[in-house]
Amino acid sequence: MKNILIIGSTGQIGSELTMTLRSRYGNSNVVAGFIKGAEPKGKLLESGPSAEADIANPAQIAGIVKTYKIDTIYNMAALLSATAEAKPQLAWKIGLEGLFNVLEIANEMRCAVFTPSSIGAFGNNTPKDNTPQDTVQRPQTMYGVTKVAGELLSDYYFKRFGVDTRSVRYPGLISYMTPPGGGTTDYAVEIYYAAVAGKVFKSPIAAGTFMDMMYMPDALCAAIELMEADPAKLVHRNAFNITAMSFDPEMLKSAIRKYIPDFKMEYELDPVRQAIADSWPNSLDDSCAREEWGWSPKYDLDSMTENMLKELKTKS
Ligand code: SER
Repeated sequence: MKNILIIGSTGQIGSELTMTLRSRYGNSNVVAGFIKGAEPKGKLLESGPSAEADIANPAQIAGIVKTYKIDTIYNMAALLSATAEAKPQLAWKIGLEGLFNVLEIANEMRCAVFTPSSIGAFGNNTPKDNTPQDTVQRPQTMYGVTKVAGELLSDYYFKRFGVDTRSVRYPGLISYMTPPGGGTTDYAVEIYYAAVAGKVFKSPIAAGTFMDMMYMPDALCAAIELMEADPAKLVHRNAFNITAMSFDPEMLKSAIRKYIPDFKMEYELDPVRQAIADSWPNSLDDSCAREEWGWSPKYDLDSMTENMLKELKTKS
């Protein structure tokens, strides 16, 4: 039986991951870790245990691991790319010092660790199309720096200390439950809210800017399937390229127009986000994830759009 701690359980990924893990492993076996000011509410609070788990406070995290006999940690604490550019010191503290704290505890208390990396781990001189699993990684954002260093540090703890570290490079994640905040790919979530509200969407990202994206149900499956994968088959651990689709704002607009024909989009570019997007791949090659642990996404742009619009209409 797994006993799991999610650090960052109230964030965009954490909130849905916690509920999915609870239905898979039992409510009482999944602890929702949170920080002050971002406490769990509603179903997340009521369905299972929760505890303050500040990634900058290793004693607090070690206490939870001990109390709940935790054997697996999902480390979902992070600042997204544009926020990390605005607050680089904090991004380092959470992304790197925080990860170091988690890995130290995992080594001492023998826990497996999942930590997301990102398409942000690539930079301007990475091959843009069909970006290989193993390639140049010289990002020039603090987000990217923490992601590359995090991949290396996680590999180091596996090789040196045998800590079972695993991770994926997430593309932009799209979901209708908890909104993201401060990411470069957030436009691909916000556009659906605007479409359902009958508003004109002002895209901060230019036409022709392609980025990898994924619907949240696939992103959750990726984390869980990788953590359940046979370790003997994992050649790469930190971190696997995964993707489900690649599109630009125009393709996304057309997909929405199939369901909302009078939907309108204009451009109002955000230079910070645009520069970050320009430095990221257009499309990833995720064949290693497919071969080593059977990765296969279920949603493409059309099926995701149909589902997003349906769910958001029900919510509104
Ligand atoms: N969604 C993230 C961001 O835009 C990328 O990993 O920052």
